[in-house]
Amino acid sequence: MDNPQPEIRNRKSEDAPWTRKDLLGIRELSVAELTHILDTASAFKEVGRRTIKKVPALRGMTLVNFFVENSTRTRTSFELAAKRLSLDVVNVSATASSLAKGETLKDTAHIFQANGADIIVMRHSSAGAAHFLSTRLRASIINAGDGAHEHPTQALLDTFTIRERLGRVAGLNVLILGDILFSRVARSNIHALLKLGARVTLCGPSTLVPRAFEQMGVTVTHDLDSVLAEADVINLLRIQHERQRKEYFPSLGEYTALFGLTKARAARLKPSALIMHPGPINRGVEIDSDIADGGRSVILEQVTNGLAVRMAVLYLCAGAR
Ligand code: CP
Repeated sequence: MDNPQPEIRNRKSEDAPWTRKDLLGIRELSVAELTHILDTASAFKEVGRRTIKKVPALRGMTLVNFFVENSTRTRTSFELAAKRLSLDVVNVSATASSLAKGETLKDTAHIFQANGADIIVMRHSSAGAAHFLSTRLRASIINAGDGAHEHPTQALLDTFTIRERLGRVAGLNVLILGDILFSRVARSNIHALLKLGARVTLCGPSTLVPRAFEQMGVTVTHDLDSVLAEADVINLLRIQHERQRKEYFPSLGEYTALFGLTKARAARLKPSALIMHPGPINRGVEIDSDIADGGRSVILEQVTNGLAVRMAVLYLCAGAR
């Protein structure tokens, strides 16, 4: 019995109906909506363990995977998720599109829609780009990362991984370490973790983790060694050089000395602590290479869970249309 349709349809849709055609960010989601996506992803993860992993749920619909900024994980994950749902998929990158000839984002997206796109997954370097399209198109718009604003499916797959590994999110101490200022992953994670009841601590250089973040309801520290032992989860972020306009710390060597997850620091974590990273990793900078590949690292598990989470997001948003 490889057709999962009945199980998927019978999820808790009466308790927490999903009515959004778009997924633009985590900030605007209710706790019920967040939980509904995670529960739906659990059902799709189960489907992924079957011999035949492809389901006819969205057969006849078309998805455009529109990446105006580079990506490995998110782009391949959305493409595979779409194919498993039997969507027709078209991949478009900025350099291979007429954006490079001066066509506007809106005109480009209207071309996709005129060609029958039901869903547009978009990554863009400008915050708000996904929201801009969502108000102008009938197609579902899924934000695959917009500037330093939000990366909702990354936060969903991160919280899914925490929930699956540790059995809950509420009450956990989650330490997010690194370049918070320029990180859309951090913002989406903060919204998701706080809504689900976790305690969030941000750590990194004061230039990249300003005290202003405390207004979101998190704790800010610049002393990693004082908070390591309390963490149930440590989520490491890379330095986002592509978004920085000046130097925020003296050198990578100094960054690693003060904020890198070295072997010595990893030894001070709880034995049960999860080590996470959204990728791409800069080995030897924010994380020791052996720790990244070690037993407490769930970095590749995050990638695997991303597939189920993205299937859930596509399924729910397409259904809401
Ligand atoms: N985590 C993440 O967004 O990775 P990519 O840039 O490879 O998609």
